[in-house]
Amino acid sequence: MNFADRYGPWAVVAGASEGTGRAFARQIAALGLPCILIARREAPLAALAAEIKAESGVDCVVASVDLAAPDAFERIVAAVGSREVGLFVSNAGADPHGDHFLDRGIQDWIDLAQRNTMVTLRCCHHFAEPMRTRGKGGILLVNSGACYGGASFMATYAASKAFTLCFAEGLWAELHTQGVDVLTLVLGRTDTPAFRKMLADKGQPVPDQVASAAEVAAMGLERLPHGPVHNWGVADDVAGFAPNSAAARRERILMVDRISSQIFGSRP
Ligand SMILES: NC(=O)c1ccc[n+]([C@@H]2O[C@H](COP(=O)([O-])OP(=O)(O)OC[C@H]3O[C@@H](n4cnc5c(N)ncnc54)[C@H](OP(=O)(O)O)[C@@H]3O)[C@@H](O)[C@H]2O)c1
Repeated sequence: MNFADRYGPWAVVAGASEGTGRAFARQIAALGLPCILIARREAPLAALAAEIKAESGVDCVVASVDLAAPDAFERIVAAVGSREVGLFVSNAGADPHGDHFLDRGIQDWIDLAQRNTMVTLRCCHHFAEPMRTRGKGGILLVNSGACYGGASFMATYAASKAFTLCFAEGLWAELHTQGVDVLTLVLGRTDTPAFRKMLADKGQPVPDQVASAAEVAAMGLERLPHGPVHNWGVADDVAGFAPNSAAARRERILMVDRISSQIFGSRP
């Protein structure tokens, strides 16, 4: 099956207005699928839909939804309407704060956890069931190297990404024999507007080695049939970032703490 047959007729991209989500939408549309584009800001979504129409001749639907809001799932379902969704991409999910847990009010962390876990969970349940019935489809959950362990300045974020990792692995185990592809794409530093803003807020320069949004989106779509995990920049058979002994985990957390403190702990 080609891409459109396998993952059509519609794709949903949650977090599509910029960065990797925008790149996913453009590349998915170029492969023939119209997208339902979701983010908070409607203007960049509408501009993206017009750009996609001009580039690929595909009509997209845009929906302004705050994924942290209690009614986010219902609003996504309403935006999708009766369209058949064969591909769900959960892209939104960076941590805009980069602070210690106790240095912000609890609502910020509840919002982050709601956006990154519960809404994704509900969307996957809703969209994957008809995919299983049809015997085809794809679920792509964008992740971060933070998923492999706790870390200072990102306690809630890392926990939400660990949730995504385990959830994607379990879903893959249940669905890959039934024609539904599940992948969590684990990113490292990637050049997105949100990443640049976070660095600017902390008075940090953009590092030399960052992936481009277009590169990681292309890799995600290529690896989608080969789940459950793909680590950006790391070959399939390399163990990567996941020590498991208590001592090794402690050492890793303290090592990440030293790096995070340099980045997040600084002020312009
Ligand atoms: N950039 C990196 O270096 C990096 C590294 C590792 C992992 N990642 C992962 O890559 C993904 C994309 O990250 P990113 O850097 O592009 O930042 P991001 O803040 O996740 O932004 C991506 C998109 O999500 C939307 N979004 C954010 N919060 C939302 C909300 N509450 N409701 C609806 N839409 C929301 C944004 O649009 P609106 O502002 O219009 O809502 C934007 O279109 C995330 O899952 C992140 O964890 C990124």
